[in-house]
Amino acid sequence: MTTSFDNAAQVLTPPQPGLPYLRSNRANELELEPGGITVEHGRIAALQPTTEANIHVDATGCALLPGLVDCHTHLPFAGWRAGEYEQKVTGVPYEEIARAGGGIRSSARALRETPDETVLAQAQELAGEMLRTGTTTFECKSGYGLSTAGELRAVQLATELSQIVSQNTTRTGLLAHAVPDGYTTTTWMDEVERMLPEALEHVSALDIFVESIAFGLDDLDRMGQLATNNGVLLRAHVEQFTTMRSVPVALEHNARSLDHLSTIHPDDIQPLANSDTAAVLLPGAEFMGAEHTAPARDLIDAGAIMVLATDANPGTSPIFSLPLIVGLGVRRYGLSTREALLATTLNAAYVLDLQSELGSIELDKHADLVLLDCPAEHIAYRLGRNPVAATFVGGEPAYVRPDAAWRIMER
Ligand code: NIG
Ligand code: FE
Repeated sequence: MTTSFDNAAQVLTPPQPGLPYLRSNRANELELEPGGITVEHGRIAALQPTTEANIHVDATGCALLPGLVDCHTHLPFAGWRAGEYEQKVTGVPYEEIARAGGGIRSSARALRETPDETVLAQAQELAGEMLRTGTTTFECKSGYGLSTAGELRAVQLATELSQIVSQNTTRTGLLAHAVPDGYTTTTWMDEVERMLPEALEHVSALDIFVESIAFGLDDLDRMGQLATNNGVLLRAHVEQFTTMRSVPVALEHNARSLDHLSTIHPDDIQPLANSDTAAVLLPGAEFMGAEHTAPARDLIDAGAIMVLATDANPGTSPIFSLPLIVGLGVRRYGLSTREALLATTLNAAYVLDLQSELGSIELDKHADLVLLDCPAEHIAYRLGRNPVAATFVGGEPAYVRPDAAWRIMER
């Protein structure tokens, strides 16, 4: 089957093929030009349209982008924590909510008490929401298990989720998220080491929450060794509330990404920017939690691989829309449209190690595409509006907004 995307007002393409990522200070090299593409057997077959296709997509007035990649979510989880949000906005700090048994612990209780089918049904519904806002690839994390059995169940559920959603997914073992009752950080890390062989059947990355209320630099160092020894990626939640100086430790282990960075120490910006470790910024969590603002401009100017993600979770960021995250990122960090698009496509795919398969519109890559009903600049400008007319995964329409159905014609 051949599909031709015709007459788009903008097509986002990288400056050259085969880039694993593009440092964000080169985002202005991305092209956003009128044109079209041809898709064959689920892959991008030509960077121009063809009259020979059996399906034509009329992209007049539209922006055609690579499918959005959400490289940091906490799916699957159980239930919500709206009551906590009200506490938070009326002045109770996150750390205090967490210490009182709320936060991660309350989601862990909910997960424990919810049957598999219910957890999967909620996650599947959220994946549907994500598809309607243009996400064609997303990461899942464990982290609400808080016991060996719970974490292993969480990674297993993430694998099951991958079989019932339209998107491409990856799985990360956030095996050190909160310190379970009865453990110290060290004895829990011993437990992590013991569960690792089984967890590794499901995950391609390991993650840890380094924070005054969670794990420390020694634990990060140990997680880094475990990742290296087992040939999986290291990711880490760092410098979210407290400046812990996690960055130098994580860089020693060649972390694939460091996420949050709202309170990164100024001296750590240049070393991070010089490395191949991506800086994943989470403006949804910053906004919803009235957190510090990550120094995105400084990171970009220093040469970092900057990425944006939702951090979708029931606590700090119950946001699943990457267009909204782009809008928040652009406003909070002072990003250009190209910087924000790069941060939610190719650079985000790099974080998940999928950059050779997807993340940009180039020959032979997956035809994961999103069609906007407006120019790309409107994503951030018309904040909160969903600009997605249709989402394609592997060349197939996975979501078509009813008022855009006329654009897809069989011939
Ligand atoms: O990325 N910071 C740690 N973990 C999550 C929050 C988890 C939760 O509150 O449920 C985050 O913000
Ligand atoms: Fe997170």
